[in-house]
Amino acid sequence: MSINWFPGHMAVAVEKIKKAMADHDIVIEILDARCPMASSNPLVESLRLARQRPCLKVLNKADAADPAVTPQWVAQFNARPQTQAIAVSAKKTGDAQKIVAAAKKLAPHRNDPTKPLRMLVMGVPNVGKSTLINALLKQRSAKVGDEPAITKSLARYELSPVLSLTDSPGLMWPKIEHPDDGLMLAASHSIGVNAYIESEAATFLAEQLLARYPKLLATRYGTPADGGRLDGTGVIEAIAARRGFRLKGGGFDFDKAAVILLNDFRSGVLGRISLETPASRASRPAANGHDLTDVTGDDPA
Ligand code: G4P
Repeated sequence: MSINWFPGHMAVAVEKIKKAMADHDIVIEILDARCPMASSNPLVESLRLARQRPCLKVLNKADAADPAVTPQWVAQFNARPQTQAIAVSAKKTGDAQKIVAAAKKLAPHRNDPTKPLRMLVMGVPNVGKSTLINALLKQRSAKVGDEPAITKSLARYELSPVLSLTDSPGLMWPKIEHPDDGLMLAASHSIGVNAYIESEAATFLAEQLLARYPKLLATRYGTPADGGRLDGTGVIEAIAARRGFRLKGGGFDFDKAAVILLNDFRSGVLGRISLETPASRASRPAANGHDLTDVTGDDPA
């Protein structure tokens, strides 16, 4: 599958963020810990490098990711210059505060009422940006208003006299080069349902789960503990068979079972899963250069 999802308002947002970068000291990029590289927006990296802004990579939803894999990603990001990474769960009390502590370390020269630390928060849709920001704002804070002369869509908040935070809209990039990245973003619900085919995303997800987490599939759907001879399609058919999802003609209702698998992954009931590891990413074949389908997505539900 291929995805090309860049509605006009996204292009406008990029321009606004480009300007906002000048007035901020660090970028906080929220990533999905289950697919940290697939959810890394190359635009964020290029915009912040152009202004030489350090970046705090926040691997959110760590509670839903494989605990053996997340530290590998944190180490990999930490090896990059001007980059620090932390794993958090926005839903866990106190985790959001780790972001503030790490951000201060990245810009030690800004911790003064005359030089407050100004953080720009970015991330693709559905990575938990709002949840994290809300957790941060629960402490005493005042909405300062929209960034002057920049945009109404960048809301700035003063967390303290020495600390402010600017929220930006969930941002995608014009062309997702590798189909697997599009499929991971689809599986994790970062792209709108109109921009991908659910059965395709679910088949990809089933293949990943068979390869790395066959026991989780077995526990939930009664498939063989080692995956047996199933492929991705077979897993979804097995779900349809187990749940009794049949079409009028008697065949399996594949689409319905595909949605069940996607939802079970998204809600975490399948277990803690990482869709990629540094090793899997390093060893995967390059994108085959197929032209991307030109589809316009909606915002994730
Ligand atoms: P966004 O602003 O980046 O778009 O994300 P938002 O905070 O709205 O969160 C998106 C979904 O992710 C929400 O679930 C939210 O509850 C969930 N979420 C946020 N942080 C965490 C976390 O640390 N761990 C887990 N497990 N979930 C988290 P939702 O409304 O059910 O959406 P969906 O995932 O079904 O699309």
